[in-house]
Amino acid sequence: MAGESVSKETPTILVCLGTGCVSSNSPQIYDELAAELKKHNLSDKVELKFTGCHGFCQRGPIVIVEPEGIFYSEVKVKDAEVNNEWEW
Ligand code: FES
Repeated sequence: MAGESVSKETPTILVCLGTGCVSSNSPQIYDELAAELKKHNLSDKVELKFTGCHGFCQRGPIVIVEPEGIFYSEVKVKDAEVNNEWEW
């Protein structure tokens, strides 16, 4: 995976900021996720990072949740909602 390494202990949301995903609003998704984490007081429990291209640009924006390895494609800004029921 391109970008920063991820600790296996800390839940981490990775948002692709490669050119293809940026062209389909991934920076806005990143900003919305950051705001949601802050709103739910999860900023110190969940890391939010950006990555480079994963090679799935046509399916972007791409968001991955680690350590589970959950892969989301064609994410919309409105999808960037953090649910308090998630167990972080
Ligand atoms: S730019 Fe995001 S997968 Fe290629």
